[in-house]
Amino acid sequence: MKRRTFLKSAAAAGAASLLTSGLLGLTSACTPKKAPAQGWNFDEIIDRTGTWSIKQRRATDGKLAMWIADMDFKTDPVVSQALRERLDRDVFGYTYGPDEFFDAIVGWEQKMHGFDVPREWVEYAPGVITSLCQAYLTFTEPGDKIIVQPPVYDPFKSYAQRLGRQVVDNPLIFKDGRYEMDFDGLDRLYDKRVKALVLCNPHNPVGIIWPRETLARLADWCAAHDVIVFSDGIHADLALYGKRHTPFCSVNEAAARIGIEFCSPTKAFNLAGITGTAYAVIPDPEKRQRFHDTLSNAKLREASIPTLVATIAAYTHEPDWLEALKRYIEGNIAYLEDCFQSDPAARIIRVIRPEASFLVWLDCRALGLPQEKLMHLFNEEAGVVVNNGASYGPGGEGFIRLNVGCPCTIVAEAFMRIERAISHHDGRVLRVTGSN
Ligand SMILES: Cc1ncc(COP(=O)(O)O)c(C=O)c1O
Repeated sequence: MKRRTFLKSAAAAGAASLLTSGLLGLTSACTPKKAPAQGWNFDEIIDRTGTWSIKQRRATDGKLAMWIADMDFKTDPVVSQALRERLDRDVFGYTYGPDEFFDAIVGWEQKMHGFDVPREWVEYAPGVITSLCQAYLTFTEPGDKIIVQPPVYDPFKSYAQRLGRQVVDNPLIFKDGRYEMDFDGLDRLYDKRVKALVLCNPHNPVGIIWPRETLARLADWCAAHDVIVFSDGIHADLALYGKRHTPFCSVNEAAARIGIEFCSPTKAFNLAGITGTAYAVIPDPEKRQRFHDTLSNAKLREASIPTLVATIAAYTHEPDWLEALKRYIEGNIAYLEDCFQSDPAARIIRVIRPEASFLVWLDCRALGLPQEKLMHLFNEEAGVVVNNGASYGPGGEGFIRLNVGCPCTIVAEAFMRIERAISHHDGRVLRVTGSN
């Protein structure tokens, strides 16, 4: 039986048990492979009950939680093992960030992204968004303008606004199924109050790994206009299909002068609950000092023991778990593409294939539904809890974001529910005949 056919029937078989006994009911029906010798099995349905999972909290009444960006996988066993060994010491006193932490980051940046980062460029950062807020406070004043490029991860905007900054949208251009940056738009919106731009690279939610040329052009534009770039690379370690992520600060001299990178192992290694796990790479010494001082003044420079241990473990072992994870995510995306393309009702929705990470951007505009109804279709009629495309700003209307960082049987079940909901939406059977 083809994998897809197997999963479709497996999902159907599992659907009833899903509703009655929770996700664990899928395990026996749908786990097609044995756990590999290395000790991980991405097909395993993990039980998040009692783990205070934010994602699961919204998935009541048998709904599938496919929204917030963490994965329904266990972390890399080398990370768990390191944490376990550290816990077994029973010693949790005040702790400094050891050389091993910084060396691990320097080594990882070189190995994964070909980025030669001198040790002194690296600052511990207390989470990406917390650190971005500190960067807003350090490098901009209330009333200054900060550019974001929607549809984009919404906290960039909401936290800037909370801190009294003005946010200016420079929406991405969606052309021939691909997103591009709007450089003419940057020229149009610029005025002297513009002080910063937030870059999302890879871009959440549209999944782009920005090409080196685009980043170099952006760096030149920002340097010419004295605009600092805060580059969020939290999804960088999840580059798919053999693509390489290019760190913004590495593209040219201008980028190194005006850029600050924020990175973290939390997405790739599924460590979001170990909050405060991130780092900044700041090549320019003056900016580095200012950012360092801000963190010191707010007493935000102490990393927790789990942060230090997990980062060192994740970044110093061979990334074989991570590579296997990426192949699995690619499989889930291929499966989803195949389902949507080959189903007469569901093909009305277009899958935008991400170049990185486990978040799939679905173009649902051809359904012709107002956003509220679209969300109702997914969240209530299909029972698949997704992120609202409109929440990512202009350009997000008519889209939703689906998290496929989960066992493929869950993706299969989600597709089946979505397909059924589309087919029967409002009693009308939607059919498209042309290619989409
Ligand atoms: C682009 C992006 N940046 C930042 C975050 C959150 O990072 P942190 O939890 O370190 O604040 C997320 C989480 O989904 C994200 O997608």
